Amino acid sequence: MAPFRENIKNMSPYKPPLEGRASKGYLLLDFNEMTIEPSAHVKQALRQFVDSGRLQVYPEYGDLNEIVARYVGCMPDEVLVTNGSDQVIDVVMRAFVDKGEKVIIPSPSFAMEYQSALIQGAEIVKPRYAGPNLDFPLQEVLKLLDANPKLLVLVNPNNPTGTELALEHVRALLARAKEKNVAVLHDEAYFEFSGITALRFVKDFDNLFLSRTLSKQFGLASVRAGYVISQKDNVAELLKICGPYDVNMFARTAIEAALQDPEYSKRYIKEVMEKVKPKVEAFLKEHGIDFYPGAANFLLIKPADPEKILKALKTASMLVRPREDPPGTLRVSIGTLADMERFCKVLERAVS
Ligand SMILES: Cc1ncc(COP(=O)(O)O)c(C=O)c1O
Repeated sequence: MAPFRENIKNMSPYKPPLEGRASKGYLLLDFNEMTIEPSAHVKQALRQFVDSGRLQVYPEYGDLNEIVARYVGCMPDEVLVTNGSDQVIDVVMRAFVDKGEKVIIPSPSFAMEYQSALIQGAEIVKPRYAGPNLDFPLQEVLKLLDANPKLLVLVNPNNPTGTELALEHVRALLARAKEKNVAVLHDEAYFEFSGITALRFVKDFDNLFLSRTLSKQFGLASVRAGYVISQKDNVAELLKICGPYDVNMFARTAIEAALQDPEYSKRYIKEVMEKVKPKVEAFLKEHGIDFYPGAANFLLIKPADPEKILKALKTASMLVRPREDPPGTLRVSIGTLADMERFCKVLERAVS
């Protein structure tokens, strides 16, 4: 084998459990995706791109930054569009963290935060979400900022716990991190569902990087589209780490089309968050199935017999995500009313 760096040799690849996902007819409640297709406008734009005679040409992004900035409500030079928000995590990690340096990741959290930190050879410090509601460990993280970390990762709301971190606490953490010269990645992958964003802090905090995605609420997971928002000098530095064509033209085309039809996503988000999620929560309470309070389009449930439920759901062609941390939990994406009625029916039979 070639002389790989020690930390790469000691790592494993991140392999999300894909088994069964390719089967037609499965209801996919395991990756926090939309359960419906993206807007017809997106599909039409992609078809037009395929027929444009430009497939053999390297990407040209034109006014993509302006389009995204208009959606966000910031300046075009405060945005960098990326190959999924996984790439934001990777680029920020590479920008700030060298071998042996500390990264704080309140845990458990999203796998790619750890993966990117490990690639850098970072020492990962993992304060725990704790208590009956899996609360953010605020005091502990504030204290840990004294221990000379390079980066603090805040996933808000957190995946898989769903935990919301109040913006006043985000502000306190940003202020302490700034004092200590620590960069902060605020991962807002679920922003459109939760309404939680630290955007208002960007102008005052030059240590802040917001990460967003179009995978979840615009249904663009397959094309890989994300972006980072930060002060313009920071964005100029991050640009040095990216390749000139990291974002492909399918993503560029889909982003523009999706943002031209925001009503489509808004309708879905409204259905999921205002109508369906409260119904699922009421169902869980009624049937004595424990779950954690969460601010995103998924719920972390803790049934008495998770294995039995997982099996029953699979038999009924439904996938949810079993989690080892916290032990005995299942993460369930919330889909349309019809999806979740199907889900609740199977759950009801499995627990009765
Ligand atoms: C917290 C969090 N950040 C980032 C991502 C990655 O999103 P993307 O598809 O944009 O790479 C996910 C996906 O599940 C996520 O849960």
